[in-house]
Amino acid sequence: MNHGKLVRPLLNWFAHNARDLPWRRGRDPYAIWVSEVMLQQTQVKTVIPYWERWMRALPSIAALAQADSAQLHKLWEGLGYYSRVRNMHTAAQVIMQEHAGRFPREYAAVLNLPGIGPYTAGAICSIAFNQPRPVLDGNVIRVLTRVFGIGAPTRKQATQKKLWALSDQLVHQAAELEASGQNACSRLNQSLMELGALTCTPGQPGCERCPLTACCVAWKQNRTMQLPNLGERPAATSRRFVAVVVECQGRFLVRQRPARVVNAHLWEFPNIEIEPGRDQLGAVQLQSAAHQALGFAPARLEPLCSFKHAITRYRITLEVFRAKLDGAREPGRCRGQWLGLVELDKLAFASAHRKVLELFRDAVQPLTRR
Ligand code: ADE
Repeated sequence: MNHGKLVRPLLNWFAHNARDLPWRRGRDPYAIWVSEVMLQQTQVKTVIPYWERWMRALPSIAALAQADSAQLHKLWEGLGYYSRVRNMHTAAQVIMQEHAGRFPREYAAVLNLPGIGPYTAGAICSIAFNQPRPVLDGNVIRVLTRVFGIGAPTRKQATQKKLWALSDQLVHQAAELEASGQNACSRLNQSLMELGALTCTPGQPGCERCPLTACCVAWKQNRTMQLPNLGERPAATSRRFVAVVVECQGRFLVRQRPARVVNAHLWEFPNIEIEPGRDQLGAVQLQSAAHQALGFAPARLEPLCSFKHAITRYRITLEVFRAKLDGAREPGRCRGQWLGLVELDKLAFASAHRKVLELFRDAVQPLTRR
């Protein structure tokens, strides 16, 4: 196939269909970097308010480099995969020290920054600097496997290599058109991402409004729904946790998760993993779980709520109980900090625990600040 046949329709389609996204209004590599990192694993509509809040709080690389870890985690709270924000922090410090505070333009230097892999380096260099660098993410993979009719498993190294090569050819074709248009590399890469997000979607793709049907192999062969071949997904594993919201004199016991675990550095209510199962917890089991989670067993535990959520391949059930301590002082022997609701609100919580906090706050203290 002559790939040049794809580039013009893609650029034309993008000119008429691109969403007006806040990071598309300028060419600041820092703003684009922040958007690309947030967009990994997260949808555009979720990212927009996070990006806007982040850019108001930390408008420059220098501001990010100087920010403290608690502020960064709070700005990222709810986006998940928190190593991304820690890598950005380190990368900003590297840019201050090694690049005099200016985002590097050279691809190799961009790729060398902590947390930046080939996708993010390609996205920044093409979108911000209009360099002919390829991109390949889930959206682009869907478009390319369908257009070129690639049925091999996309996880395989050989398939990845082929897809990167195709993306590379397309962006170089766009560079050759440069004389006639502006920012063709930037727009070409964004058109692939945008087509994958808006039209060439996983379920019910909008082939009737796609600019590429004339040359799409999957469309011609009626294989759109079979592509891409994502292979077997790892089986989901059920996990069950018990958390205890324990209150003493208007303060609550919370903990910060350690480094190098899932949701590292985020805050949570004391909790413990128990054997999965559907049965309701018996009184003895509950007492034992509370004792393990807290280091002591409160006399009375009331059920508060239960949440199901998924992190990577885990299907997690969190069963939450509350306990009120009558003593004038908090027990000194438990690990964690006792904080009031206003202080708790300033911390970055793991998502399920943030929901617990909100529900608890609404249910128990409807008149406290919101
Ligand atoms: N997904 C990842 N990067 C994107 C971008 N720049 N625009 C839209 N969706 C994206």
